[in-house]
Amino acid sequence: MAESAWWMHGIVYEIYPRSFQDSNEDGVGDLQGIRQRLDYLTWLGVDAIWIAPIHPSPMADFGYDVSDYCEVDPLFGSLSDFDDLLRDAHSSGLKVILDFVPNHTSDQHPWFKESRSSRLNPKRDWYIWRNGKSDGVPPNNWVSQFGGSAWTFDASTEQYYLHSFLREQPDLNWRKPAVRHAMYDVLRFWLDRGVDGFRVDVLWLLIKDAELRDNPPNPNYRLHDAEINRYLNIYNGDQPEIHEVVAEMRSILDQFDQRILIGEIYLPVERLVSYYGNGSNGVQLPFNFQLISTPWNAQKIAQLVQDYEKALPPGGWPNWVLGNHDQPRIAARVGEAQARVASMLLLTLRGTPTMYYGDELGIGRVEVQSELVQDSWEKTEPGLGLGRDPWRTPFQWNNSTNAGFTKGRPWLPLDPDYRLRNAEELKKDPTSILCFYKQLIELRRHCRAVNSGTYRSIGVQGNIFAYERCNGDDRITIALNMGMESQSVSAPLGITAASVLLSTHLDRSGPISELTLRANEGVILGMS
Ligand code: NOJ
Repeated sequence: MAESAWWMHGIVYEIYPRSFQDSNEDGVGDLQGIRQRLDYLTWLGVDAIWIAPIHPSPMADFGYDVSDYCEVDPLFGSLSDFDDLLRDAHSSGLKVILDFVPNHTSDQHPWFKESRSSRLNPKRDWYIWRNGKSDGVPPNNWVSQFGGSAWTFDASTEQYYLHSFLREQPDLNWRKPAVRHAMYDVLRFWLDRGVDGFRVDVLWLLIKDAELRDNPPNPNYRLHDAEINRYLNIYNGDQPEIHEVVAEMRSILDQFDQRILIGEIYLPVERLVSYYGNGSNGVQLPFNFQLISTPWNAQKIAQLVQDYEKALPPGGWPNWVLGNHDQPRIAARVGEAQARVASMLLLTLRGTPTMYYGDELGIGRVEVQSELVQDSWEKTEPGLGLGRDPWRTPFQWNNSTNAGFTKGRPWLPLDPDYRLRNAEELKKDPTSILCFYKQLIELRRHCRAVNSGTYRSIGVQGNIFAYERCNGDDRITIALNMGMESQSVSAPLGITAASVLLSTHLDRSGPISELTLRANEGVILGMS
């Protein structure tokens, strides 16, 4: 594995295509829209865009219910729009990563239509069909991610089919070789077109327990938790045979130059790292979501980094994620001021960072009134705060109507503060969060210690977490105040005689002999 592989030092930027830029006034973002905004992405300095699904879909789960893997949904454009985007992205130096959704198709996919047509259909076992335990009782106790049983009874053939998500998203049977081959052809189709890799949706769920055993109850389940947490989900995913599948996918990618597999895997660190395989038969980046789930304080975050670094297998390249289209935005979780500290952490830890579109503007939670709700999870389990609409609202480009996102009616409301919080305005303010992101990304790009150096924890003192990154003679210290009060760094951390290269507050630089961090301040220090 070459140290210089683009995905090791580069930054991945997730685009939720419905919400980035609309080019045809239908209120939904599209591929031409993304193409029009490539200049912004190169200005910001990211290296790769991961675009959430763009394939034909009834949109029950906004593209995660695919009805044709080798086409583009007309809502987003056409295959030729995709080729144009890919060509222009590549000539701007940007890589393009597509979302690959192998666990389930749409119930409108021709494969499922065939499968459900008769018990004797050759595609019957491309999906997971079973008899109920008894009349009206599903085959086992598995719960759908969006609540309710993971099984739906199909009256015409009198069997249940499995769906880990909505009933409109039937699970494919990955134990069946023909399914694997059909899906590998999909990978080849896009690789031949020139895509640089895939983010693989719910990779750990592809293979289920061969006997489909009941999951054990979760003793920590509480009323008002999402229903999926009612059981310990040990039999509906993460089975040993998944690693065969991953190895097969990887061998296809490796027939092409410098392509990448990123696995969406929500598992504890010790299970997560098994998806690296032996380095050449796993995914290059099993998404590490620990920053999203860990309580935001210096002690806990320092511990998490240590545990993760320690768990990595030899040659396993780390990666960090701060947000995505399923999770509350970072500014909503920790506040805008601390969100700058969070981004400094994300972009200076060892490994590949993944950013979420709009976090660089400091967008927080956007209120979506009940009559405007779009997300199916909010509809299946209403009122529990599980809906993902507040984190998927349109990008805010300028202070014109609808923030320059669309001339039509936006599919989700915009943050009402867009007249001030938008890319054009923030670019003009040299102290804005956007300008901070840009400087941070630039520093990361040029500083070998940060983009490819070693990591060493210096320690935690009160609310401050400090660590060092080193590459040859380049030595950088990062000190983050994760608290709301100013604090001086004292002797045990030993940070003296340094020079401030960047502060989250963007108001100081140059030599210092002692370090006091203000509330919500992080600094990157060059060490002499
Ligand atoms: C994970 C995706 O990120 C999420 O948005 C989707 O609902 C599920 N997988 C189902 O595909």
